[in-house]
Amino acid sequence: MATGRIPRPAAVAVALCAAALLAACAGASRAGCRKHVAKITEYGAVGDGKRLNTAAFAKAVADLSERARDGGAALVVPPGKWLTGPFNLTSHFTLYLDEGAEILASQDMKDWPLIAPLPSYGRGRDEPGPRYSNFIAGSNLTDVIITGKNGTINGQGQVWWDKYHAKELQFTRGYLLELLYSDNIIISDVTFVDSPSWNLHPTYCTNVTISGVTILAPVHSPNTDGIDPDSSSHVKIEDCYIVSGDDCIAVKSGWDEYGIKFNMPSQHIVIKRLTCISPTSAMIALGSEMSGGIRDVRAEDSIAINTESAVRVKSGVGRGGFVKDIFVRGLSLHTMKWVFWMTGNYGQHPDNSSDPSAMPKVTGINYSDVFAENVTMAGRMEGIPNDPYTGICISNVTARLAPDAKKLQWNCTDVKGVTSGVTPKPCPELGAEGKPCAFPEEELVIGPPELPKCSY
Ligand SMILES: *[C@@H]1O[C@H](CO)[C@@H](O)[C@H](O)[C@H]1NC(C)=O
Ligand SMILES: *[C@@H]1O[C@H](CO)[C@@H](O)[C@H](O)[C@H]1NC(C)=O
Ligand SMILES: *[C@@H]1O[C@H](CO)[C@@H](O)[C@H](O)[C@H]1NC(C)=O
Ligand SMILES: *[C@@H]1O[C@H](CO)[C@@H](O)[C@H](O)[C@H]1NC(C)=O
Ligand SMILES: *[C@@H]1O[C@H](CO)[C@@H](O)[C@H](O)[C@H]1NC(C)=O
Ligand SMILES: *[C@@H]1O[C@H](CO)[C@@H](O)[C@H](O)[C@H]1NC(C)=O
Ligand SMILES: *[C@@H]1O[C@H](CO)[C@@H](O)[C@H](O)[C@H]1NC(C)=O
Ligand SMILES: *[C@@H]1O[C@H](CO)[C@@H](O)[C@H](O)[C@H]1NC(C)=O
Ligand SMILES: *[C@@H]1O[C@H](CO)[C@@H](O)[C@H](O)[C@H]1NC(C)=O
Repeated sequence: MATGRIPRPAAVAVALCAAALLAACAGASRAGCRKHVAKITEYGAVGDGKRLNTAAFAKAVADLSERARDGGAALVVPPGKWLTGPFNLTSHFTLYLDEGAEILASQDMKDWPLIAPLPSYGRGRDEPGPRYSNFIAGSNLTDVIITGKNGTINGQGQVWWDKYHAKELQFTRGYLLELLYSDNIIISDVTFVDSPSWNLHPTYCTNVTISGVTILAPVHSPNTDGIDPDSSSHVKIEDCYIVSGDDCIAVKSGWDEYGIKFNMPSQHIVIKRLTCISPTSAMIALGSEMSGGIRDVRAEDSIAINTESAVRVKSGVGRGGFVKDIFVRGLSLHTMKWVFWMTGNYGQHPDNSSDPSAMPKVTGINYSDVFAENVTMAGRMEGIPNDPYTGICISNVTARLAPDAKKLQWNCTDVKGVTSGVTPKPCPELGAEGKPCAFPEEELVIGPPELPKCSY
């Protein structure tokens, strides 16, 4: 009699639960959670840190991509060390790393097939021609989640860094995670360590949320940028902790004539509550690859410790493109070489075909509410001769100087702008205006919605 009263959908759910893993149903029963759940061990993977599991990951994703069309699928990586070569993700898919789960990237270059360079770069970033695969990748995907209980994705980059320094690499190193032409991506509660090169590289993507992510690499490892949104729009980066050998975040949009031709900007980017340590690079860089343009970046409430500079603009003659409508407020900076650093002509070109008349347009860069201590120099501001950086606004800034601080605190060339309430006193190129700098009133709406609470 009691069972007879259960409405039909509930009865079906009960039957499904009996048939499937209990954990899977716990997940599937909540909104946004995946219907199909499998563990990597079901595909023969062994988590001893020695066995190579490339085939297991490929098989798991291929199998789950079939089922994901019906209610989505999750691949669970349980505690253990799971060595594998590069693998691709699929749509309507969650990669779930349990507590104590670590995916280890193979250090054998034979496991990293070559792939085409990015169209907006024309060649690999380190070397001409094709490039090594990215470790975890996906193209033309929608609805992808990488999450769990703070498991680790470990690029084991030391072999790549050694070969890079020894100039033994014929091709460009792979990135730890690269998604191309994809939308509705969430990366949350995961740790990325020791990438061969850049860590997270969303490229030609829309609606990307990266939150609660830890990224760790030795501070002298080469080009281990934390998060590089590249020709991507509506990207939100919140509550991340990044220690790296290069920029903690670098917003990019393609390289010289290739980026100009591809013509896809990075725009509508929100960065909040970032903590950054990067002694030889920036907390947030805009460029230097900015040939498709960078606009509407909003960075706030962030901390940098022992970092070279805060929000740095980098461009180059031959880059073309633009950087505009940039808003920064609420930075707390401890030990900093240059609080404000702009580099008009950064150099580095893909080849000899860059057009020297392709001049970047940099304008509308607002900074306010910045406190910095142990500062060597407040501002090193270099625009481009005959193509100045304009519309720079700096307000409410206190930079307390280091014992060995420079005598000249601001050095400005080819820049124009205004300031208010800035200590030490800025250069004459940045005149006094007395007004606080702008920051947009309304919040940007960036999909996808919040991470669904699922346990797998
Ligand atoms: C991943 O997908 C790309 C195409 O998007 C392909 O070129 C590459 O070979 C795939 N990598 C692996 C490891 O399957
Ligand atoms: C992904 O989409 C882009 C742009 O629409 C297209 O050029 C490319 O061929 C697609 N790639 C794959 C692997 O489907
Ligand atoms: C996640 O793990 C990393 C590396 O072990 C650690 O530094 C970080 O604090 C952890 N994050 C959380 C939220 O526990
Ligand atoms: C602040 O940025 C806006 C938007 O780009 C720009 O129009 C303005 O010139 C900047 N503020 C100042 C005072 O330069
Ligand atoms: C540019 O040309 C010079 C000499 O013509 C050559 O040595 C150099 O390798 C070229 N650079 C690139 C990036 O192709
Ligand atoms: C100036 O910036 C500091 C942070 O450095 C902030 O606490 C303070 O409220 C700001 N003052 C105004 C008037 O906005
Ligand atoms: C101040 O910065 C210098 C490097 O310029 C560093 O060696 C020193 O430890 C820093 N002092 C403090 C108190 O952080
Ligand atoms: C100021 O900047 C200019 C242009 O970058 C440079 O040539 C000059 O040496 C700098 N001056 C000092 C004192 O650092
Ligand atoms: C991005 O997210 C917003 C807000 O959820 C949504 O309106 C928009 O359609 C999404 N765009 C894409 C390309 O998925």
